[in-house]
Amino acid sequence: MGLAPDMRIAQAVDPDSLVVRYLAFEPMGEARLAGLARMLDDGERAYAARLKVAGEREAYVAAHALVRATLSSAADVAPYAWRFQPGEHGKPRIAGPVAQGLSFNLSHARGMVAVAMSRHRDVGVDVERMEQGKLTMQLADQMFAPAELALCRAAPPARLTDALYDIWTLKEAYIKADGGGFTIPLQSFAFTLDPPSISFDPSRAGDPAGWLFRTLRPAPTHALAFAMRHPRPADVRMDVQPMTEDALLRLASTTN
Ligand SMILES: CC(C)(COP(=O)(O)OP(=O)(O)OC[C@H]1O[C@@H](n2cnc3c(N)ncnc32)[C@H](O)[C@@H]1OP(=O)(O)O)[C@@H](O)C(=O)NCCC(=O)NCCS
Repeated sequence: MGLAPDMRIAQAVDPDSLVVRYLAFEPMGEARLAGLARMLDDGERAYAARLKVAGEREAYVAAHALVRATLSSAADVAPYAWRFQPGEHGKPRIAGPVAQGLSFNLSHARGMVAVAMSRHRDVGVDVERMEQGKLTMQLADQMFAPAELALCRAAPPARLTDALYDIWTLKEAYIKADGGGFTIPLQSFAFTLDPPSISFDPSRAGDPAGWLFRTLRPAPTHALAFAMRHPRPADVRMDVQPMTEDALLRLASTTN
């Protein structure tokens, strides 16, 4: 299908591999937005057109273009040809036999979007814009498990914001990899950091050894975490890279 060289994945995507792509973008203007939207299907384009806030519209289009480009880098399917359907609790998955076992998850924030992809594995990703006063201990009190609150309270003041965002994005990445989303009580599992690992409340069955988690700062303004369910996390080959708007636009202009 002739993907641009900068979209290719170095090795085959199999159940022991995890691909993460993230894209930072500035306000992009209507022409560039329309260029990326060429990769989307009619439903996605209509949804994007209903988003009134420019930053949200851009993030939605960029995320869905990035998903399509990332999936196409692992299969001989054109970016615009992918079709999706919601699974239980709304987690989108690829519709039809073309899926070839590929699994993915996406996240959008203002200025940054991210995608995780594997094959026959549950994956989740979350990206958050780190804004002054957005994620406070007061908010964490309502969302974090007691052990996570204790970890944050013990953090040196200079580390507190990072700890809050690491835990928040890890929690989101986990509930998105699981697929349960909002239906999973946020206090029924807890993260420790450095390295990130999960523990489960007795109310929630789960094997902490069956998960891979990572956090990163793709930019000083954004926090990102991803999760993958895997029986041997140490065996997972990770391919985590930034993508550029220009590379996506080149792909959009050559494939549709
Ligand atoms: C989807 C959900 C799981 C995450 O939403 P979010 O963080 O606001 O948004 P993100 O940009 O990271 O992810 C949205 C994408 O996740 C995907 N998604 C939707 N439902 C999903 C689910 N059940 N599981 C996994 N992914 C899902 C979709 O692709 C969606 O994007 P789209 O609508 O453009 O296709 C949300 O429903 C949710 O449950 N949020 C929890 C909010 C919360 O209390 N967080 C505090 C954590 S400490």
